[in-house]
Amino acid sequence: MLEHDVIIVGGGLAGCRAAVEIARTNPSLNVAVVAKTHPIRSHSVAAQGGMAASLKNVDPEDSWEAHAFDTVKGSDYLADQDAVAILTQEAPNVVIDLEHMGVLFSRLPDGRIAQRAFGGHSHNRTCYAADKTGHAILHELVNNLRRNGVKVYQEWYVMRLILEAGVAKGVVMFRIQDGHLEVVRAKAVMFATGGYGRVYNTTSNDYASAGDGLAMTAQAGLPLEDMEFVQFHPTGLYPVGVLISEAVRGEGAYLINSEGERFMQRYAPSRMELAPRDITSRAIAYEIRAGRGVNSDGSAGGPFVYLDLRHMGKEKIMSRVPFCWEEAHRLVGVDAVTQPMPVRPTIHYCMGGIPVNTDCQVRSGADGVVEGFFSAGETSCVSVHGANRLGSNSLLECVVYGKRAGASIARYVENRKFPTINEQKYINEAKQEIQSLIEQPGKLRINQVRQGFQDAMTEYCGVFRTAELMEQGLQKIQEYQQQYSQIYLDDKGKDWNTELVEALELRSLMVVGQLIMNSAFNRRESRGAHFREDYAQRDDSNFLRHTFAYYSPAGIDIQYVPVNVGMFQPQERKY
Ligand code: FUM
Repeated sequence: MLEHDVIIVGGGLAGCRAAVEIARTNPSLNVAVVAKTHPIRSHSVAAQGGMAASLKNVDPEDSWEAHAFDTVKGSDYLADQDAVAILTQEAPNVVIDLEHMGVLFSRLPDGRIAQRAFGGHSHNRTCYAADKTGHAILHELVNNLRRNGVKVYQEWYVMRLILEAGVAKGVVMFRIQDGHLEVVRAKAVMFATGGYGRVYNTTSNDYASAGDGLAMTAQAGLPLEDMEFVQFHPTGLYPVGVLISEAVRGEGAYLINSEGERFMQRYAPSRMELAPRDITSRAIAYEIRAGRGVNSDGSAGGPFVYLDLRHMGKEKIMSRVPFCWEEAHRLVGVDAVTQPMPVRPTIHYCMGGIPVNTDCQVRSGADGVVEGFFSAGETSCVSVHGANRLGSNSLLECVVYGKRAGASIARYVENRKFPTINEQKYINEAKQEIQSLIEQPGKLRINQVRQGFQDAMTEYCGVFRTAELMEQGLQKIQEYQQQYSQIYLDDKGKDWNTELVEALELRSLMVVGQLIMNSAFNRRESRGAHFREDYAQRDDSNFLRHTFAYYSPAGIDIQYVPVNVGMFQPQERKY
């Protein structure tokens, strides 16, 4: 059995930042990061537009309080305000700390870190590295893992959290290269496994974003929080769905419908293209519904709108958002210097996740925590984003709460003994699970079932929701879940069996999708990204509460827990 003081599952920003913090705090601790890709290929590397912090380099009027207010208002008042205060107060320091690690932020002419406008932020506070900010940060963090002696298991798939009597004791994982199974025991386990974009059929997320950590947590009997809040990024490149950064609008691009109109005037006149994402995505969806979308031949009534950069000029486009220009050019043959880009909303981010307190300890319910279990980043829900995240607050969350998780874990493991684990039992169960998947005599291809499931999630639990629609959706996804036992694998071997990984990921997608749809069905109001056409208003008297959804093969149990309201009382949200 492998043994580490701390095992961190996930090699993206939150996991790497936590690992570095633990190693810096107590270099004698034996810390490992396990990731199903090389850490440099974690989805954080794809983050584009930047990271918010009230550094005041561009706007001296900014403050952490203003950042906190924007975040809480953006969240439609569902964010926990104690967690938001920590996020926004610590933001300037974590940016400086990253810079000291070597992150190359873009600069102002006087050499200070540049800051740009972003949706829902009242001041120019988003620090960036052109439109490759995640890339710049993750590369330095991974370098720092090596420098600090953190062990990295790359291309290992974690298939189970070992949780016994309310204590996290380790994980079960296999090496994708040859199928070799291992149990790892640890004094602390951290999940930083990112999001679940692949639950839907069009997403800005990479193929690895299958919600594995969320599903393992739910299957261990722990709750997932606020899963109904699924963020659509307004500008996914049509038809592929990849991200065209909000930075493009932050630098001045317009959203235009088939009539050539800057339609955001109708939905958010004071913020226009820089309204928060829930409002902007719905605005685009309304325009398309009303027949003011565009077709590929330029005629009206089509499935996308235009993102127009032409007035920005070549020099600005190429220096501030070169990667977005390149994506449109390479993937759909559009030269954004002379042509508008086709865009429509794409699944981008999960506001909910594994519930944690502000020390990143996983919550077991309304009260209490799980011993030895920690989480940070997109997979967690400390709830700084509530019902809708502001752009450029997610890299910030990964770094602020990744760092806090590291500090908290370093304290937790001090003077603690390793747990006892029946290694053979876990190995046998894992072998059995893999074997039965490989041998199952089904008739259906994984892709067929996955596509059907993703289409059902998109159709029945997308931007616009109703009870009637979701009732049908719950029925549909149940049918796909039943098909899981009828999938067959061509590859019966152990070496690089990516089909096996896909089968396990499909199971994760299905667990997560079921939690999303049930949570959405039960929240009979509209708030942030969760928009119910049958309950179009926010309902604070009944639903200013977090959803805690518990999974079991028999169904989902929904409970509600209070929101931490601090400095900012809920108000009507207008932009
Ligand atoms: O649009 C973007 O660059 C995305 C940023 C974010 O999700 O924070």
